[in-house]
Amino acid sequence: MSNSATHCHSPAGSAAVATLARTGTTPTLDPAAPVRTSSTGTPDLTATPEATLYGALTGTPAPSRPRRRTTVRDLAARKDRGEKWAMLTAYDYTTATVFDEAEVPVLLVGDSAANVVYGYDTTVPVSVDELLPLVRAVVRGAPHAMVIADLPFGSYQASPAQALETAARFMKDGGAQAVKLEGGARVAPQVELLVSAGVPVMGHLGLTPQSINTLGGYRVQGREDAGAALLADALALEAAGAFAVVLEVVPSDVAARISKALTIPTVGIGAGSDCDAQVLVWQDMAGLSSGRAPRFVRRFADLRTSLLDAVHTYVDDVRDGRYPTVEFSYE
Ligand code: KIV
Repeated sequence: MSNSATHCHSPAGSAAVATLARTGTTPTLDPAAPVRTSSTGTPDLTATPEATLYGALTGTPAPSRPRRRTTVRDLAARKDRGEKWAMLTAYDYTTATVFDEAEVPVLLVGDSAANVVYGYDTTVPVSVDELLPLVRAVVRGAPHAMVIADLPFGSYQASPAQALETAARFMKDGGAQAVKLEGGARVAPQVELLVSAGVPVMGHLGLTPQSINTLGGYRVQGREDAGAALLADALALEAAGAFAVVLEVVPSDVAARISKALTIPTVGIGAGSDCDAQVLVWQDMAGLSSGRAPRFVRRFADLRTSLLDAVHTYVDDVRDGRYPTVEFSYE
C-alpha cells in the first residue's frame, strides 16, 4: 500500500478520511463519503475499507471526456487524414491503465513478452498459454485502446484453420480485438480466413523475430533487391484483408515506399519516420530495459534508474527502521 490514497488515513481525530468508492469498475476518490465513528467518537478506521490492498488506484480513472475503444475504422480514417499514431506493447494490468490513460490508441501484447516478461533469449519458445493471461490483464486495464494479441511461433503457420483456432482463443478467452502474425504472401491464406471470420489482422514484415533461426541474426531487412519483395509481401497482406502492417528494421526509403503504396497503415519500428504509426516495446521506450538498445530505440524516460533508486531507499529504510513509521501504521 504505497499510494497516497491509503496515506490519507490520518491519525484519530482528523476531520475526514477519504474513502475509495467503486462505480462499476471505476474507482473514484470520494472525500465526501461519511466517516463512521466508534462508540468513543473517534474515526473507526477499521470500518473504512481499503478499496484494494495492492496497487491502489490502478483502476481505470474516470476519463476527462467520453472515449470509446479504438477500431480498425478509426485507424483507416487516421491514414486518410495523414494523422500519425503511436502503438506500445503492454503485458500487464497496471501499465495498461497508464497507457490507456495516456490515450495510446493501440496496445500490442507482443510475443516480445518472451524476452521482457518470461526472460527467454528469443520469441520462439513463448506459448499461447503463456500469452493468454497477459492479454486478459491488458484488456482489463485498457478499456479504450484496441488490444492486439500476437500469435506466437507455431500457433498459426501450419494452416489457416490452426490460425483461426488460435485467434479465437485470444478473442474469446483473452478479450483481444485483433491479432498480429508474422510473414507475407506465405501467410496470406491465414489472413484471408481470419478476416472472413471476423478477426482483424495486423501483418508483420521485415525483421520477423520468430524467424531468427532462418534470418541468422537481428539485421536490417529489405535492402537492395529485397525491398521489392517486401513491397510485394505488404501488398499481398493488404489484398488478403490485413488492416495494418508492422515494418520492423527496414531502410527508411523502403518503408516510405511501402507506406505510400498501401491504403492500410504501416506501423514502423526501426523503419523511419514515413510510416503511418510507430511502435516500441514499452520497457525500451521508458528506459526500464538494461544493456545496449538497438539504434531505433529512443528512451523517453529512465525508469530503470528511478526504480533502482526507489528500491535501494526502501531496502535501506526497512533495514534502518525508517519505514514504516506511525504515519504508515494502524491503531
Ligand atoms: O512482439 C512485439 O512486441 C512486436 C513489436 C515489437 C512489433 O512484434
